[in-house]
Amino acid sequence: MRHLMNPLDLSVEELDRLLDLANDIEKHPEKYAHSCAGKKLATLFYEPSTRTRLSFEAAMLNLGGSVLGFSSADSSSAAKGESVADTIRVISCYADICAMRHPKEGAPLIASMKSRIPVINAGDGGHQHPTQTLTDLLTIRSLKGRLGDFTIGLCGDLKFGRTVHSLIQALIRYPNVKFILISPEELRLPDNIRDDVLRRNKQEFKEVVRLEEALPELDLLYMTRVQRERFFNEEDYVRMKDFYILDKEKLKLAGPDMMILHPLPRVNEISVEVDDDPRAAYFRQAQYGVYVRMALILTLLGLEGTIC
Ligand code: NCD
Repeated sequence: MRHLMNPLDLSVEELDRLLDLANDIEKHPEKYAHSCAGKKLATLFYEPSTRTRLSFEAAMLNLGGSVLGFSSADSSSAAKGESVADTIRVISCYADICAMRHPKEGAPLIASMKSRIPVINAGDGGHQHPTQTLTDLLTIRSLKGRLGDFTIGLCGDLKFGRTVHSLIQALIRYPNVKFILISPEELRLPDNIRDDVLRRNKQEFKEVVRLEEALPELDLLYMTRVQRERFFNEEDYVRMKDFYILDKEKLKLAGPDMMILHPLPRVNEISVEVDDDPRAAYFRQAQYGVYVRMALILTLLGLEGTIC
C-alpha cells in the first residue's frame, strides 16, 4: 500500500506516468467515468480549503466513486480530543482512500502509519503540499511543453508557503532549472530547504527582494499569498501582506511567454487586471488539479492499469 506525503515519494518515472495519465484523462474523460465505481474517498480536512478538498471530491466523483468526510476540525471528533491516529483507524473501516489536511506538520504521516488505506497529504502546516506540486508540474508540462530548462521565480511567503517547499523539492530533479527566490527578508525560504535541498544538490539559485529585478529573467513566475494563519501576530502580517502586488504595469517588465502560476487563493498579490493577460495560467492550473488528482487516486488504488 502506498501513501503520498511528499512529492519525492514518487520517482521521476512514476511522476511521468502519472502526468501522462492525467493528460489522457483530460483528453478522454469518458474512459475513466466508472473506474472507481464502488470506491470511497474520505476527505479529512482539519484546516480550511476550497480547491484541494473540492478538487479531490470532484476527482473521485468524475471517476464514478463516492466521497465522505469533514471540512473542519470543529465538525469532527478532533473537537472532543480524538487523535489523528485513532481517527484514521476508524476511517479505514469506512473508505478506500483518504486525503488529509492538518495544521500540524507531520500529522498525515502519523495517520499513514496507522492506516489500512492509502493516505494523501493534502497540506500539513507550513511543511508540504504534494498534490499542489503535482498540479503545478502538470500545468507547467502541459502549457510549456517541458519540465526543466527554465528559470522560475518563486515570490511571496517562502517561509510558510508549503506549496513552494514541495515544488522546489520536485523541480530540482529536472535538468537546468534556475530558481529566483523573491521575498522580503522576514519571509525568506527556511534554512533547511536552502541548505539541504538547494545547496546540497548544487542547484543554481539567487535570492532577491524586488520582484521588478527578477521579472525580465523569468520563464515562470509562481506567486504565493502571505500565509496569515501561520503568523504569530497580526501586526507582522499587516506589514507584509501587500509587499508584492503584480499588476499590468509591472508585467511590462516580463517576457511575452512568461507563465504566471499561483496555487490560489489569491488575496492582493495579483491584481485582478492581470487575469485577462494570456500569461496568467492560475485558473487553468486549478483545472489541472482535478485531472492530476484523478490520476493519483487511480494510481494509489492500483487501478491505473485496468482502463483501456
Ligand atoms: C495552498 C495551501 O493550502 O497551501 N492552497 C491550495 O491548496 N491551493 C496555498 C495557500 O493557501 O496559500
